[in-house]
Amino acid sequence: MATIRALPDLLVNQIAAGEVVERPAAALKEVIENSLDAGATQVDVDVAAGGVRRLRVADNGAGIEREELALAVARHATSKIAVPSDLEAIATLGFRGEALASIAAVSRFAIASRAAGRPHAWRLEVEGGTVQPVAPAALASGTTVTVEELFYNTPARRKFLRTEATEWAHCEEAFRRLALAHPGVGFTLQHNARALQRLLPGGRHARVAALLGGAFADNAARVDAEAGGVALSGFAVRPAYAAQGATAQYVFVNGRFVRDRVLAHALREAYRDVLHHDRAPSYALWLTLDPRRVDVNVHPQKTEVRFRDSGAIHEFVRRAVERALAASAAEQPAVSAAEKLGLAAARTPPLAAATGPRADGGFAPALTQQGGLGLGAAEPSAFYARLFGTRPDAAAAEGLPATGDDHPLGFALAQLHGVYVLAQNRAGLVLVDMHAAHERIVYERMKATLGASVPVQPLLVPVAFAAAGREMAAVEEQSDALAALGFDVAPFGPGTLGVRGIPAPLADADPVALARAVLHDLSEYGGSDVLAAHRDELLATMACHGAVRANRSLTVAEMNALLRDMEATERAGQCNHGRPTWYQLSLADLDRLFMRGR
Ligand SMILES: Nc1ncnc2c1ncn2[C@@H]1O[C@H](COP(=O)(O)OP(=O)(O)OP(=O)(O)O)[C@@H](O)[C@H]1O
Ligand SMILES: [Mg+2]
Repeated sequence: MATIRALPDLLVNQIAAGEVVERPAAALKEVIENSLDAGATQVDVDVAAGGVRRLRVADNGAGIEREELALAVARHATSKIAVPSDLEAIATLGFRGEALASIAAVSRFAIASRAAGRPHAWRLEVEGGTVQPVAPAALASGTTVTVEELFYNTPARRKFLRTEATEWAHCEEAFRRLALAHPGVGFTLQHNARALQRLLPGGRHARVAALLGGAFADNAARVDAEAGGVALSGFAVRPAYAAQGATAQYVFVNGRFVRDRVLAHALREAYRDVLHHDRAPSYALWLTLDPRRVDVNVHPQKTEVRFRDSGAIHEFVRRAVERALAASAAEQPAVSAAEKLGLAAARTPPLAAATGPRADGGFAPALTQQGGLGLGAAEPSAFYARLFGTRPDAAAAEGLPATGDDHPLGFALAQLHGVYVLAQNRAGLVLVDMHAAHERIVYERMKATLGASVPVQPLLVPVAFAAAGREMAAVEEQSDALAALGFDVAPFGPGTLGVRGIPAPLADADPVALARAVLHDLSEYGGSDVLAAHRDELLATMACHGAVRANRSLTVAEMNALLRDMEATERAGQCNHGRPTWYQLSLADLDRLFMRGR
């Protein structure tokens, strides 16, 4: 057996480099993080050949004193923590005191720095782990780190590098994460001498738009929640616009990009109700909390965290995002119809900032009058009361002016082809998908009543239908679930089921079609806790059957009542499948459509 001996420093650092710097992007991340820890307000990143040939990061941070330059590249040397208790509350991105030592062991490395208030800058080179003497350098302020020929002295590692394009893609992603996490810092990025990014210091929305695209920023619901010293803010893309392909999922914990199962799960849950299953959510969220409540000393790359109270964090995040997505229909939908059709280059102003009724009065009053005519003639109908479970808004039935701020969706004008409701609001024209909107309202209402158990509406005349074996079985096995959902269904004979009652909120639905749809779901899901496990799917099925069908003509009063219900319903902006339920077409959109100067 060979003798046991302590490893030389270079070898120790090269081994550590295997964990910390698996590829150029990881080195880039470490170097930029150091700049941010040094309080830089501007970070300039220059990459050559996917980061394999060169990574250079220049910052305007606090800088390093001449005497400390050698320590900066020494292993286990850090200015960020000093005593064991510091590990309990890490407030900086770095703390292990090993990143530069590791990088310098596997590259041609140089660090130049001018400490704040010093007349000169100094530079230190490390060649494959061998530290050269400190020499004077020219640098206005801050620190510049250069990493060249990564893994030149560790051929085994070098072999694992992928193509330049792949390594560059990883570098770009590392840059994106850091620049997103720190919108208050200005960044530039260039690759192979091509300038690619120039990010001015600013707010999160602008940074998200610059790095994740205008579509992301425009279609995202704003998340803003705070409780018990924990805050979550940022943007969650509305389900209707969630990408089917590429997704952007960024969560930053105290300014650090993390991959965390607790958070990922909380976010999936938050979207579960409103997102079609073949789509993936996109978000950029910043979680801030006392550093004592989260452990970042979990993994050498520091992309994993452990929350001291992960249950509470899960609940907090899920609710905050759910609430943001549930923003009631009173909010402006993400994209105006004109934009969807590609008509408008400019963005529609948000409802609150929208142009009021036109001063010349040419257009708006004509529509108001039409609406008024219809409204005046209409009586709040019993059909609506049965269908929607509420009395139509009396004020709406009297034909109030269509400019009231408490009615963001405005007032109904007409029904189009039995599918769409047209309404006029302050900003212009509102188009509502009648069935989708009503489906959402019914769903939310069912969900609210299910807590107790849904009241049964007995049928005047029970309806019998020929049932398949599995439908018979479902009635037998799931009698409790059926009762809780508001059904009274029983075998009427061999191969025959009878519907004697259906859920009261769906009194207008076709009893047999509704019962069959639910029985189908029940036999599909099965199990003793089917209601607990599949409540939402079952409610969605029922809501679809209970919602007003296309081609059903509604009176203006009924349409107005639908609009009021949408305003009062959470998540009314999307149907249960994540499609939008309404669109705003502003006067400006219409003017553009007719090339009408204003
Ligand atoms: N851009 C910079 N500006 C100012 N000081 C720096 C800069 N880069 C590194 N340093 C100094 O060098 C030290 C060592 O950096 P290094 O990245 O190796 O370790 P760390 O950041 O302390 O911990 P970690 O290994 O977790 O990154 C830092 O603690 C810091 O004092
Ligand atoms: Mg560091």
